[in-house]
Amino acid sequence: MNMDTEAFRAAVMEGIPSSLPEKRPIDPALNHAPVRRDVLSREEKKLALRNALRYIPAEHHREMAREFAVELKRYGRIYMYRYRPEYPITARSLDAFPCRSLQAGAIMLMLSNNLDHAVAQHPDELITYGGNGAVFQNWAQYRLTMKYLAGMTDKQTLVLYSGHPLGLFPSHGDAPRVVVTNGMVIPNYSSPDDYERMNALGVSQYGQMTAGSFMYIGPQGIVHGTTITVMNAARLKFGKHGGMKGRIFVTSGLGGMSGAQPKATVIAGGICLVAEVNPKAIEARHARGWVDEVYTDLDRLAERAVTARETGEAVSLAYQGNVVDLLEYLLEHEIPVDLGSDQTSLHNPYGGGYYPAGMSFGESVRMMSEDPGQFREAVKASLRRHVKAVNGLTARGMYFWDYGNAFLLESGRAGADIFREEGGYRYPSYVQAIMGPLFFDYGFGPFRWVCTSSDPADLAETDRIALGELERIAVDAPGEISGQMEDNIHWIREAERHSLVVGSQARILYADSQGRIAIARAFNRAIREGRISAPVVLGRDHHDVSGTDSPYRETSNIYDGSAFTADMAVQNVIGDAFRGATWVSLHNGGGVGWGEVINGGFGLLLDGSGEAERRLEMMLHWDVNNGIARRSWARNEGAMQAIGREMKRTPGLEVTMPSLVDDALIEGMDL
Ligand SMILES: NC(=O)c1ccc[n+]([C@@H]2O[C@H](COP(=O)([O-])OP(=O)(O)OC[C@H]3O[C@@H](n4cnc5c(N)ncnc54)[C@H](O)[C@@H]3O)[C@@H](O)[C@H]2O)c1
Repeated sequence: MNMDTEAFRAAVMEGIPSSLPEKRPIDPALNHAPVRRDVLSREEKKLALRNALRYIPAEHHREMAREFAVELKRYGRIYMYRYRPEYPITARSLDAFPCRSLQAGAIMLMLSNNLDHAVAQHPDELITYGGNGAVFQNWAQYRLTMKYLAGMTDKQTLVLYSGHPLGLFPSHGDAPRVVVTNGMVIPNYSSPDDYERMNALGVSQYGQMTAGSFMYIGPQGIVHGTTITVMNAARLKFGKHGGMKGRIFVTSGLGGMSGAQPKATVIAGGICLVAEVNPKAIEARHARGWVDEVYTDLDRLAERAVTARETGEAVSLAYQGNVVDLLEYLLEHEIPVDLGSDQTSLHNPYGGGYYPAGMSFGESVRMMSEDPGQFREAVKASLRRHVKAVNGLTARGMYFWDYGNAFLLESGRAGADIFREEGGYRYPSYVQAIMGPLFFDYGFGPFRWVCTSSDPADLAETDRIALGELERIAVDAPGEISGQMEDNIHWIREAERHSLVVGSQARILYADSQGRIAIARAFNRAIREGRISAPVVLGRDHHDVSGTDSPYRETSNIYDGSAFTADMAVQNVIGDAFRGATWVSLHNGGGVGWGEVINGGFGLLLDGSGEAERRLEMMLHWDVNNGIARRSWARNEGAMQAIGREMKRTPGLEVTMPSLVDDALIEGMDL
């Protein structure tokens, strides 16, 4: 073992050190979280300090109380910067982590990946993506959790409350090693202001979907979903064989998720114009080749786009500036635009997710903390302008969709012209138009895996295995899913060539239940036979068939009135937990905002054993099919077909099917 690994292990085992760590300066080169609003009363600030000091040995309270008070005043939160570890946090190979339980070691690897400087959006503030998607609330929670994971056995379960490790509790080998909840609150206290207060007090956090569940795999996770969304949007607009060649897609955001848009558009063969106000976010994406060219001049950008449109070149062009300025320019100069969307972080409109037009990035950041009321009004005014420009471009032929960032919801709340006269929004959400009917209803969702050897050769082998399994299944796939199967085969064949890995050796693949189980089984066999050198973690984004109840996104194509219930997401996690998941998580918030969504997920370690095979079969089957069953009960046609097929294939599966009523009968009723 080399010295670095030895020092790393010793530091992990130490947890919260008894002596105070050296105070280190904040690195200005890192992308830091914006200053959070000062929301606590004086009494509440005292409470926040008392809460934070619970993690710190009493002899340091005098010094740390002062330091935490400064952090609270300066940043609006207590991150405990002094407790940042000195070692680099990254997805090392599994054997480098100190652990008595392989499952716990794999969880350490996964959460480390979420905090890697190359992966996380604001690593020092423990934020992985989406502006506020937290892994932990502070560094003491990180240290304590790592120590618990290092020491625990397969007969214990670690309980995490919004990043806080409540402790290890005796359990059994088949139980999850970790149960995570993030932002679970009493429903009447689930407003954005409640979140700000509880988060500032240090008692709750926003886990987004894959941040607080340790399942984030960098922007690759979303590239695949974005590629199929853009390709299918082009099919909706230009017909089955339309394609993206010579088509312009205009959008915004080069952050954690949004940064996938330019890459995905190029993979789909089109031209992406993407606005981003934060120069650091542009730099990060440009340096890694996720966006091809950067412009500050709109004339030059437009000229380049029009040329690419004429020659059919696939290219991505970033505009360093506000998306509203870009859209207004395109409208005014009559630049042809085919597709449009938006991926600013509107799930968090007033806390740094959306930067209003008409002021610089720096001015926005200042106003947000110094005059939140004025900032709120500036955001609303900007959204009204934003929608006006979108309406102008769609009147000239652009196909626009809401990309799951609460654009429709927040524009509506801001008084923008976003509603149709007959009610409802002018534009569909991408789930209503594309993801729901073509993917979720059939069980296709963002399945993913991570090679714990952290060796690219293992990832290449898993790609080959997955391709083989998909090609085998595609032979007998029914006609209604043959397009999805084809796109997936294309994706996995191309994936390595596009250098999508940032952080852990991970791959995403939108597979259905049959595909996920077949691939997982084949991986487990390959681990047993030594063709893959170390265990593999399976998981998924919560943004899936069964994982998320979110009426403006994942469940926006549920039309039986149950879109505002959350039974599916909660049942899904409970079912995963007793069917063999290695860890499970349940979150409030994620994607569209605190109080707007309940979502959950799992991680499952494959170690080549018969036990792992038993678990994967039982758990993956439930994890996909319970959501299809719910979608089928909501009378979604694809889901009724899919669950009907599954019942024929799976003994013991009996799903309640809806009796369909003739609409003419209902329409004629005297009600
Ligand atoms: N489409 C999906 O499948 C999907 C999945 C997950 C999340 N989302 C949602 O998409 C949104 C973006 O996610 P993210 O992880 O990229 O967030 P992020 O905060 O990392 O990135 C958003 C970027 O938008 C930029 N921005 C904000 N206002 C702007 C403006 N007016 N003009 C130009 N740039 C502006 C910000 O500087 C930031 O870099 C979130 O609301 C997220 O919940 C969508």
